[in-house]
Amino acid sequence: MSSLWQDEISLPRFQSLEGDISTDVLIIGGGMAGIMVALELRRRGISYILVEKDRICGGTTHNTTAKITAQHGLVYHRIANRYGLGAAKAYLEANLKAIDRYTELCRDIDCDFEQKDNYVYTLDSLDVLNSEMAVLKRIGYPAELRCGLPLPLDTVGAVRFPAQAQFNPLKFVAAVAKDLNIYEHTFVKNVSNGVAVTHHGKIRAKKTVVATHFPFMDRFGGYFLKMYQHRSYVIALRGAYIPDGMYVDDSGTGLSFRSYGELLLLGGGGHRTGKNGGGWEYLRKTAEKAYKGSDETHHWATQDCMALDEIPYIGRYCSLTPDLYVATGFNKWGMTSSAVAAEVLADALTDKKNKYEQLFAPQRNIFTKQLWANIGESALNLVRPTAPRCTHLGCALTWNRAEHTWDCPCHGSRYSEDGNVIDNPSTKNLKR
Ligand code: FES
Repeated sequence: MSSLWQDEISLPRFQSLEGDISTDVLIIGGGMAGIMVALELRRRGISYILVEKDRICGGTTHNTTAKITAQHGLVYHRIANRYGLGAAKAYLEANLKAIDRYTELCRDIDCDFEQKDNYVYTLDSLDVLNSEMAVLKRIGYPAELRCGLPLPLDTVGAVRFPAQAQFNPLKFVAAVAKDLNIYEHTFVKNVSNGVAVTHHGKIRAKKTVVATHFPFMDRFGGYFLKMYQHRSYVIALRGAYIPDGMYVDDSGTGLSFRSYGELLLLGGGGHRTGKNGGGWEYLRKTAEKAYKGSDETHHWATQDCMALDEIPYIGRYCSLTPDLYVATGFNKWGMTSSAVAAEVLADALTDKKNKYEQLFAPQRNIFTKQLWANIGESALNLVRPTAPRCTHLGCALTWNRAEHTWDCPCHGSRYSEDGNVIDNPSTKNLKR
C-alpha cells in the first residue's frame, strides 16, 4: 500500500553517518517538520545536521493529504474560550505566515502547488459555525459562512477561509532536500549532555531538535500523557465529481475532500489508533453511493499525534532540558505546523524572542478532559490480560484487520504482522 505521492516521485538518497561529528544544531527526524527546520536554519546561516533513522519522509509526510491551511477544524472559538482572543489571533497569524512561507518556497518548484479555498463543515450544528464566525470576526479575519456545499452530504454549512493551498508534498521535498545536510539510515539511540549516540558514531551538538513524529525520550516532557495517535484513511477516485476547494468535517471522524489533478482524494473513516473505525470500507461504501462509476486508483492511511488542546507542542522539550527542543502534536495539520515549528524553533535556537513561543510552549497547562481520557485508555490497556504486549510501556495490542498490523491504543505504536515496529513511540520490535 503506497500513497499517491510515492507513486509520483523518488526522493533523493543520502549516506548514513559513520564516525563522530559536531554541529551547532542536530535535528532528529526527516519528516516535513525536520526538513522545514533545516531549511530555516540554512537560510539563517546556522550549522546543522539532520539525521533520519530510515529514509526521509518515510512516515506521516508521505501519507498526508497535503492541505496547507490555517483552518484546523473550527478551532478558533475553542482556543479563544480556553486561552483568550489574543491566543486565537496569534494561532491564526502564525499559520497564515506558514502559508506565505510555502507560497514563497513553492514559487520556483514544480510541486503542483495550487491556491484553494478551505471549508470546515458540520452536519449538525449551526451554533458552532456561528461561534467560530464571531471569533474570526473579532480578530479581523475575512472568513465567510457558506451553505449549499457541493458535497454528497447533508451539511448545515461551513466556514470558508479564502486563498489557502494544496500541493504534492514529496515533489516539494524532493526539490528542497537535495541541498540539505542530511544523513539517512542513522538511528539515534539516546541523547544526553549534548551528545547523540547512533549505531556508528556520536554527534556532538550545542542544541538538538526532536522532530520524530512522537518524541522518543519518555523520561522528559510526559508526551505519552499529553498525546494520543489517530489513524485516518484516504482513497483516490478517478471519475468522481470534483468540487472546487478543500473540505473537512469539524468532527474529526467525518469526511475530507480535495482534488489532485483529475482525482478526488476522499479521506475519513478515522479512529484512535488501536480502536475500531470505518477505515477504507466506510470510504468505499461512501464512494459507491456518492460517486457511482468512479474507480479507485490508490488507498492509504496515515497516523497523527493529537495534542490535548488542539495546539501543537513546539519549543523546549522539557523545562529540565535547556538545549533540547521538540515539534510534535500537529493534530493532522502537519504542513502548516511544520512551517510554524521552523520559525518558532529557529528563533529559540538562536535565543531570539518569538511572539508565538508561549502559545506553542509544550510546558503549558495540561489539565484537560482529553488528559483524563488518555490516562483512562492507558490504564485500561495496561491491565487488559492479552498478548502480545507493546514494547513501549507494555499495553495490550489490538489486531488491525484492515491493515494486518498490531496497534497500541495507549500511545499509538504499530507493528507489522511479524512484529517489526512501523510507528513510534516504540523503538523495539515485538519479542517473537
Ligand atoms: Fe505506549 Fe504502546 S505505545 S504502551
